[in-house]
This record gives sequence, C-alpha cells and structure tokens, in this order.
Amino acid sequence: MTSLSLFLLLVSAGAAAADEPPAAYLPAETQALALIGVPPPYPEEDPAPPKRVELGRKLAFDPRLSSNGAVSCMSCHQPGLAFTDGLARGRGVGHKEGPRNTPTLLNLSYRHSFFWDGRARTIEDALMDAIKNPVEMNQDHAALAARLSGIPGYAAEFEAVFGGAPTPARIASALGAFVRAIDLAYTEKRSDFDKFRDDPAALSPSARKGLVVFAGKGRCLRCHATNHFADDALHDVGLTEGQRREFKTPSLRQVALTGPYMHDGRFATLREVVDYFDRTDGLALSGEEKAALVDFLRALSAPTPTVSIPALPPQESL
Ligand code: HEC
Ligand code: HEC
Repeated sequence: MTSLSLFLLLVSAGAAAADEPPAAYLPAETQALALIGVPPPYPEEDPAPPKRVELGRKLAFDPRLSSNGAVSCMSCHQPGLAFTDGLARGRGVGHKEGPRNTPTLLNLSYRHSFFWDGRARTIEDALMDAIKNPVEMNQDHAALAARLSGIPGYAAEFEAVFGGAPTPARIASALGAFVRAIDLAYTEKRSDFDKFRDDPAALSPSARKGLVVFAGKGRCLRCHATNHFADDALHDVGLTEGQRREFKTPSLRQVALTGPYMHDGRFATLREVVDYFDRTDGLALSGEEKAALVDFLRALSAPTPTVSIPALPPQESL
C-alpha cells in the first residue's frame, strides 16, 4: 500500500467517526425516494372560476351556516392550525364534542375517500355531512338554502356565480371549489422532504435515517403510500371505536401541524404514534430509529397557505 492511499484511508475513517452527513444520496435513500414516487400534478385541469372560489371562501368563514349561528367551517378547520382545531375531538354547536379528530383540509384534491371511516366519496359529500351533523353545524340543508336566500348579498352572489338562488347543491359546489383552491395554493409550497429531492442537505442526518426506516424496517409505506403518504383504504391498526376496527390511512403531509393524532385524537405527539406502531407491529426499532422516524415525519410539512378572512354579506341590505 502506498503512503498516499493509506493517507486517504485514514482521512475517510476520520470523517466517518465524526458522523458527518454523507454528501450525496445513499443507495437506501435513493431506493426510498423511488418507492415513494414523485408528487402528482394538481388534479384539476380546469380550476373552478375565481368567483365560485370566492363565494366558497365566504361560506366557509360564515357562522350563519350553523343552526345556532356560532360555528363556521373555519372554527374547526382553522387556517392557522393547518386547517385543524388542535383538539383531540371536534367541538360543534353548543360545544358538543363529536367522536372524531378534525382532519386537515389540505391535499384533499388528491384523495378518493373521505372521513376517518371512508364513508364519503367526494369532498362535497363530506362537507354537506358536516353541515347536517348534530355535533358539527347541526343545520338542515334546505333550511340553510332558505336562510342564505334571505341574505341579499348572498342571493346576489349565487345569482352571479350560478345564475340562480342558493340551493344545497350550489352551496356544496362553492365550498368544494374553495377547499380545492387551497390545494392549488399549497402545490407551490415545499416541505423539507420535497426539497431533499434536489438537495441532499435539505434533510438533517436524523431525518435521512428516518426516511430509510420509514420505507424499510418500519414498513410504513405499506399503507402511507405514494408521495401523499396515504392509500385511501381502511386498515385495522388495532384501535377501536365501538365495533369499528378499520379506519382510513391519513395522509402524513402536514402531520407535524395536525396533532393530536388518530381518529379519536388519543395520541398527543408523533413520538407516541411511532411508539405505538413499534409495539403493535413488533418492529423492534431502536431509540435512535424512533427519533429519526419522528424527524422524518416532521420534515413532511410545508408552510400552510394563508387564507385571509373575507368580509361577509350583512344580514340586511344596506
Ligand atoms: C365541529 C367541527 C367541524 C366543523 C364545524 C366542520 N368540520 Fe369538517 N370535519 C370535522 C371532523 C371531526 C371531521 C372528521 C369526521 C369523520 O371522519 O367522521 C371532518 C371532516 C371533514 C372533511 C373530510 C376530510 C377528510 O380528510 O376525510 C371535509 C372535506 C370537511 N370536514 C370540510 C368541512 C367544511 C367545508 C365545513 C363547513 C361546511 C366543515 N368541514 C365543518 C370537524 C368539523
Ligand atoms: C396497516 C397500515 C398502516 C401501517 C403499516 C402504518 N400505518 Fe400509520 N396509520 C394507519 C391508519 C389506518 C391510521 C389511522 C388509525 C386510526 O386513527 O384509528 C394511521 C395513523 C398514523 C398517524 C397519525 C396521523 C394523524 O393525522 O392522526 C401517523 C403519524 C402514522 N400513522 C405514522 C405511521 C408510521 C411512522 C408508520 C410506520 C412505522 C405507520 N404509520 C404504519 C395505517 C398504517
């Protein structure tokens, strides 16, 4: 061995001992990225007309959509909390607590199954259910259409957008357009994980280890599949609600911002969720691997798009 190659060997051994991040992608990271896949394009080829989105934004912020006039969509899906409420379980009219955790409204354009039990097939079905649900807005659909028809500003806006008076279907259409438009704004935001595709330095060494555990030993990708980390399917992961054992795999995008976790909000932290899967799936993760997995999950959040609060039409014409 020449003295030069011996010198190189010593230098590389020294670098490894200092635990510096590898400069380029490790084979296991490249493999994990390939398994996760690339972000899908925004699914709406022809986004809703801006006027319909704008009407939807007003409706989403308007507490007059609820039976007691006190609860709007945004009371529970708060923009500042990644469109959740920070509570274990949602609280609707009269502060009644429902059985389920409030999910984010982000990235729903890419989903084909809605609610924790997957019972809604479209965003519009889900939000109309929220209006009617006694522990959410507790409002009859026909009564709501009549109430909005009596507010001159809304009557005029529905006429301009739909060419007619408020109806349940038009209310659903405007609110659905608003929910999808949030995603259009969100596609421009990138999480540290997204940036990692172009720049290996965008993730910390620990989060990089977490990526490899996520796609490998942790077997998380079995259900949290694709670039949205969801499969639109129901799975039994050992939690129950009465007789029900199967719940929908939630997307892990924004997950650092959407706690508490699980359908009933039983876990306050991501570490508790990781400990749970480690225990029930017999993964035998080390403390370092669990911490790495949490760091990776944290890197899946991008800044939430800001939504300004609109001026709402007054009750009577001025
Ligand atoms: C009282 C709090 C509350 C209010 C008010 C509320 N929601 Fe929700 N929302 C929830 C909860 C809780 C769920 C999950 C329910 C379930 O899975 O059974 C949910 C689920 C949803 C979903 C499905 C999300 C998914 O990932 O499956 C959509 C879409 C939605 N809400 C939109 C709306 C809109 C639009 C409004 C206003 C018309 C609204 N919500 C009002 C708490 C609320
Ligand atoms: C068999 C499918 C499956 C596997 C494997 C799986 N998950 Fe999940 N995950 C789910 C389901 C289903 C839920 C929701 C369960 C509930 O609420 O009852 C969930 C919930 C979560 C949540 C809570 C998200 C939220 O918004 O409340 C996190 C975080 C999570 N999983 C991370 C992981 C990690 C990390 C792994 C790998 C160690 C993993 N999961 C493996 C299906 C799976």
